[in-house]
Amino acid sequence: MRVLIAQTAQDVAKIAADNVLEGLVAHGAGTTPVLGLATGSSPLGLYGELARAVKEGRADFSRAQGFALDEYIGIPDTHELSYRQTLINEVCQVIGLPEQDLHTPQGIADSVQAIEAAARDYDQAIATAGGIHVQILGIGSNGHLGFNEPGSALRSRTRIKRLAAKTRQDNARFFDGIEHVPTHCVTQGLGTILEAGRLVLVATGAGKAEAVTACVEGPLTASCPASVLQLHPDAVLVLDEEAAAGLK
Ligand code: F6R
Repeated sequence: MRVLIAQTAQDVAKIAADNVLEGLVAHGAGTTPVLGLATGSSPLGLYGELARAVKEGRADFSRAQGFALDEYIGIPDTHELSYRQTLINEVCQVIGLPEQDLHTPQGIADSVQAIEAAARDYDQAIATAGGIHVQILGIGSNGHLGFNEPGSALRSRTRIKRLAAKTRQDNARFFDGIEHVPTHCVTQGLGTILEAGRLVLVATGAGKAEAVTACVEGPLTASCPASVLQLHPDAVLVLDEEAAAGLK
């Protein structure tokens, strides 16, 4: 695991974007990169830097495919708070990744079984695309990765998960009150995430310090799902000083 600490938000974004672009080359993406995409606040600057690279002719995502890390259950994918819609606004329209090549887990269906079957198909779609070259990640203040909450199996596949109380609280800022935050989601599993060629995790702010310390220096444990990064041969963490404050 490589841990890179930057001083400003701009530097974090730039270093993270450089590591994404380098990772695409290192893992043989060529002209058809396959990106794993996180939503949330952490990677927004990184996506902005990827957009700058496109403008400057250093990157091209017009033939890329994107696979979202997760999706809420019960929110139609055309709703502005669905992760699909969020990624269309914050990634597709920013870096020029075609909307039809953005894949998101299915969070609405007539039955739980149908959502479970679609989750299995999602892992298959990643495999059919040839695997994810670079997976972009944030980390939850409780150590979650994707929406693999504490207690998640370390080799899990894409599946339905219940959101932890802490995650619902953290995400209430996007909704009109915590009661509107979905209780369940579909998330890439930890095993799915570990199959990507490179993992680039961005964390900023003091609220992430404890989770970052557990991820980097703690034991490999389902209590801190992000600790699975310790198992990955090409994982890069890009942190600001506040998020890195607990590291020795
Ligand atoms: C988002 C995701 C989550 C977030 C994490 C951090 O797709 O899977 O794991 O990366 O909750 O969220 P922010 O970046 O908003 O602090």
